[in-house]
Amino acid sequence: MVEEILIVPATAADAAAAAEITREAFTGVSIDQAIQDLLGPAAGRSWQDIKADEVRREIQQGPGDCFVATCGGRVVGYVTTQLHKEISQGRIPNLAVEKPFRGRGIGRKLLLRALEHFRGLGLKQARIETLTTNPVGQRLYPAVGFKEVARQIHYVMAL
Ligand SMILES: CC(C)(COP(=O)(O)OP(=O)(O)OC[C@H]1O[C@@H](n2cnc3c(N)ncnc32)[C@H](O)[C@@H]1OP(=O)(O)O)[C@@H](O)C(=O)NCCC(=O)NCCS
Repeated sequence: MVEEILIVPATAADAAAAAEITREAFTGVSIDQAIQDLLGPAAGRSWQDIKADEVRREIQQGPGDCFVATCGGRVVGYVTTQLHKEISQGRIPNLAVEKPFRGRGIGRKLLLRALEHFRGLGLKQARIETLTTNPVGQRLYPAVGFKEVARQIHYVMAL
């Protein structure tokens, strides 16, 4: 039997599983990785550790504003959000689906769930970013209604 995928609000207990997915998911689509490829790890921490900690913190700090995809009770994907109520804007800093579960519409469902959450809170705008090295983001985000407004260049140097 194929297990059903559920999209549900995250709980703080999901933070560890989401952090673990993060470690595997972002190869080739992470600014922290690009920095590390150029300069090496600062303070001895891998880019996977840095990114996984970021996602863990986002979920622990606002689990009700993040969502997870579960399969048979196991977390297989997540989306995190940040609410900037003063400018009526919801942001989506992180979205990932475990590799074996990709290409089944789970990423799209997570994204749509986050947008529904923003609308439910009365927010007027949603914002998301992707890298030019990420073809999935560049297809998925416009497909759900996002419009491109800018491209940014990130610089880094050793001190
Ligand atoms: C981005 C991500 C969450 C999408 O999850 P997913 O469950 O595979 O997404 P979906 O199945 O909903 O498909 C998303 C869309 O991308 C498209 N897509 C998939 N692979 C693609 C590729 N290599 N190039 C272009 N488009 C692609 C799919 O066709 C689909 O579009 P469609 O519905 O119009 O056909 C997942 O790929 C992932 O975890 N990637 C690594 C982390 C990441 O890049 N996060 C986003 C950072 S901006």
